[in-house]
Amino acid sequence: PSVTGVPHLLTDNDLSPQQLTNIIQSACKFKHEAKVLGKASGAPLAGKTMALMFSKRSTRTRVATETAVTYLGGHAMFLGAQDIQLGVNESLLDTSKVVSSMVDGIMARVGAHSEIETLAKYSTVPIINALSDLYHPTQILADLMTLHELYTPKGSEPHTISPATTLKNLKLAWVGDGNNILHSLMLQLPKVGMHISMATPKGYEPNADILKQALNNAKLAGTDVEVYNDPKEAIKGADIVVTDTWISMGQEEEKKQRIQAFAGYQLTTELIESSGAKPDWKFLHCLPRKQEEVTDDVFYSPRSHVFQEAENRKWTILACINQLLVHKGF
Ligand code: CP
Ligand code: NVA
Repeated sequence: PSVTGVPHLLTDNDLSPQQLTNIIQSACKFKHEAKVLGKASGAPLAGKTMALMFSKRSTRTRVATETAVTYLGGHAMFLGAQDIQLGVNESLLDTSKVVSSMVDGIMARVGAHSEIETLAKYSTVPIINALSDLYHPTQILADLMTLHELYTPKGSEPHTISPATTLKNLKLAWVGDGNNILHSLMLQLPKVGMHISMATPKGYEPNADILKQALNNAKLAGTDVEVYNDPKEAIKGADIVVTDTWISMGQEEEKKQRIQAFAGYQLTTELIESSGAKPDWKFLHCLPRKQEEVTDDVFYSPRSHVFQEAENRKWTILACINQLLVHKGF
C-alpha cells in the first residue's frame, strides 16, 4: 500500500470497469479535439513537470508521454537509466522521495514489478506504470481504444459511444508468450465484456496468480477465459488475433531456447485462417515486432491495425495523465 495515499496506475486492476471505459472515451475525445477540431488543450499542466524514469528502452511510450505532456502544456523530463541513480547507486526509496518532491507526476518503466511498487509506496505524486515485467497497463488502453474505433458502427463517432457497447462479446486470441502484455489483456478484456483465449508453449504460460485474478474478473463480467497450448485452439472463432515478441526486454540471453520453444507459434495468414478465425479477423501487436512471431503478410496486411494502435498510445496516456494530474484520480 502507498504511504502517501496518492492514486497511481500500477496494474490493470487499478481501474474499475467504469473507469476503464471513461479513460477510453476521454482518449477518443482528446484525439477528436486535437486532430479533427484542431483545438488546443487549455494547458492544464502549465508550470508542471512529469518525470519519465525509464530503466529500459522505449520508442512509443516515451514519444507518447512526452508529446501528451506537451499538449497539456506541461514539461516532460526524461530520466534514463544512464542519467540518474535509479536503483544502481541509490535506493528506489530515496529516489522516489527525492524525485517526487520536485515533480507533479512520474511515468516509470522498470524491470521487476516490485520496483514500481517501491517507487509508488514512497512517492508523493501519481505514478503510471510505463511497463514492468508483469504488466503494461497503458498498452492495453491503446489496444482497447483501437478496437473501439474499429468496431464503432458507421455513422457514429468513437468519442460519442461507450466501448462497453462496441466491444461486448468480441473474442481476442493471444498466440505467444505468457508475458506482461498478455497479463494486462487478461485483466482488462472482461471489463469491457470481451472474451480471451490464449495459446502459450508449455513452460511459457502466464503468471498463475494473475490468471486467477483474470478468471475472477471474467466471472464478475460473465466472459470467457480459455487457456491452451495449441495456437489453433486459441484462434478458433477469434475476432482479433494478437501476439508480441517472444523475447521481452531483459530476456535477451534466453533467445536461443525461446526461439526453439516457440516453434509453430509464428502467426501467418495460413495459420489464422485454417484455424477458424472469424472471416473479418483483425490483427494487433504492441510493437516492437520481430518477424519470428508474425510474418509480413499478416503484419502489413489491411487486417493489421498496429500503427493506429501505436498512435493511440499517445491519446490513452494523455487521458491517464489528465485524470491523475489534473483531476487527481480516475
Ligand atoms: N509498445 C511499447 O511499449 O513500445 P515501446 O517499448 O517502444 O515504448
Ligand atoms: N513484452 C515486451 C513488450 C514491449 C513493449 C517487453 O516487455 O519487452
